[in-house]
Amino acid sequence: MFANDSFWAKYGNLFIKGTLYTLALAAIAVIVGVGLGTVLALMKLSRAFILKAIANIYVEYVRGTPLLVQAFMVFFGTQVIGLNLSAFAAGALAMGLNSAAYVTEIIRSGINSVSAGQMEAARSLGLSNGKTMRYVILPQAVKNILPALGNEFVTVIKEGSVVSVIGVGELMFQTGVIQGASFKPFFPLLITSVIYFVLTFSISRALGFAEKRMARSSR
Ligand code: ARG
Repeated sequence: MFANDSFWAKYGNLFIKGTLYTLALAAIAVIVGVGLGTVLALMKLSRAFILKAIANIYVEYVRGTPLLVQAFMVFFGTQVIGLNLSAFAAGALAMGLNSAAYVTEIIRSGINSVSAGQMEAARSLGLSNGKTMRYVILPQAVKNILPALGNEFVTVIKEGSVVSVIGVGELMFQTGVIQGASFKPFFPLLITSVIYFVLTFSISRALGFAEKRMARSSR
């Protein structure tokens, strides 16, 4: 059970490599998620029925199916259409597409939480719809959106473990490799759980701190 020096000498690098892949995967997923999620949120809030319907279907479908299934679908689906993505690219794409659905709701509810009076006041002062959105609504919505996006990043770090199934060399995948090579089924998992915990706990602490500063500055 207790590790000796040779355990770390042999497998330390794999833990580090896995952790770096996990962080890269989460960062890409959230960037793709925020980009696509912003577009989908604006579609949901628009008055065009067709845009609304497309965004609604996307969000409901993605949130209503397991990420595990989506990861396989992206991995094999891209091969079927002749795209030969690496496991990492397919995993990052799947995570980004998945995260976008959750980010859509974060952004939509962040925008909706800005009181209707703000929109009415800006419109009655003669600002166009687009300008009202850009200069009045969005700057206020960002205060609700940023903390929730931080939580999404934490979620995505953990959910990244799912794409180990398609062979992305992230932390959970490397853990499997270490379990097999060391004939230790439990100890590597213990280390991995500690690594995940340190990542998520320190990020949520940092977020809590940033949130408090933001709350203070808006008083
Ligand atoms: N584990 C769940 C699933 O497989 C939730 C995924 C949550 N994803 C997110 N980006 N918040 O569908």
